Amino acid sequence: MIKDTDFDRRNEAVPDPKDGEFLVRVTHLSFDPTQRPWMSRDTYVPAIPIGGVVRAAGAGQVVKSRNPNFKEGELVQGSFGWQDYIVTNGTTDIMPVTKLPAGVSPEQALGIFGITGLTAYFGLTDVGKPSAGDTVVVSGAAGATGSVVVQLAKALGCTVIGIAGGSEKCRWVVEQAKADAAIDYKRENVAARIKELAPKGVNIVFENVAGEILDASLQNLALRARIVLCGGISGYNADDPNETIGIRNYLLLIGRRARMEGFIILDYAPRFGEAVEALSKLIARGALKTPVDLQEGFENIPSTMRRLFEGKNIGKQLLKIADPPLARN
Ligand SMILES: NC(=O)c1ccc[n+]([C@@H]2O[C@H](COP(=O)([O-])OP(=O)(O)OC[C@H]3O[C@@H](n4cnc5c(N)ncnc54)[C@H](OP(=O)(O)O)[C@@H]3O)[C@@H](O)[C@H]2O)c1
Repeated sequence: MIKDTDFDRRNEAVPDPKDGEFLVRVTHLSFDPTQRPWMSRDTYVPAIPIGGVVRAAGAGQVVKSRNPNFKEGELVQGSFGWQDYIVTNGTTDIMPVTKLPAGVSPEQALGIFGITGLTAYFGLTDVGKPSAGDTVVVSGAAGATGSVVVQLAKALGCTVIGIAGGSEKCRWVVEQAKADAAIDYKRENVAARIKELAPKGVNIVFENVAGEILDASLQNLALRARIVLCGGISGYNADDPNETIGIRNYLLLIGRRARMEGFIILDYAPRFGEAVEALSKLIARGALKTPVDLQEGFENIPSTMRRLFEGKNIGKQLLKIADPPLARN
């Protein structure tokens, strides 16, 4: 678990943009479980170097510009990092800087129309390939991605079982996200409960947690089930990936003719527009709730990051560190 003392807060002069660059006042930071492994090792992106700024998706406002494509006052998002200001030419290390469309708030840009909503959409539709009538198990069901997956699967006519920690979250998953049932993994035997709720087996497992929770789902697969490996937050605090709990029940995939497939959302960048359109339609007809856990204050960055691993958030974890200083352009 990260500690406040793992980080060093430094004050530096705000840099001036050179030709082709612009200065962004960062206003909102996104908190994503994947930032934790980025702090420990190379993953699908290089590890954050010791002494480097912690990489983080963020939103902000252009406050000075020497780039004709980005004007002062415009709201933008990108891979901005844990810092108040960033000077960029528009190509930050993972994602390009993009403008927030009119009417889209920083919370929506970083949540439902950002990595979170896009991951839920493509993971479920493209990797999971749901059909109406399928039974879908979603772990991390009250979290940012999981809560969207639950609602998307319901909108597609599936029966949905959410797995979350604690009775308050399980109530939220059923009452607000409209899952057919929720399992409290902290209190219940997950494998036995899935069997009870889905006696004919599970067609899609949308996995956000991995470890023992995934093992429980693997014991309950229907024929030709699809396991969407989205993430494994239960193992992210382990410095050595070999320390994480390996799955025991993978051989069950053979008899069930099942498929387990990982994906990284960045690969879907050319198709992001398709997801934004589909998600917007669901929001417009009231079929998609997009809860945000918004904390405040730069000094609360480490504690906000810990919220993900302490299970404190329902929906997308964000932190507001400033108001946009200029009128929106
Ligand atoms: N493949 C991709 O491209 C991609 C993109 C984005 C995200 N992801 C992955 O998707 C998953 C969800 O990400 P998110 O941004 O939506 O975060 P999130 O679900 O909001 O993550 C926080 C939640 O994870 C649960 N959790 C934390 N530690 C746990 C543990 N040891 N065991 C079980 N549950 C635990 C907690 O819920 P409870 O209170 O219910 O325990 C917590 O509220 C992550 O694994 C992330 O890495 C993958």
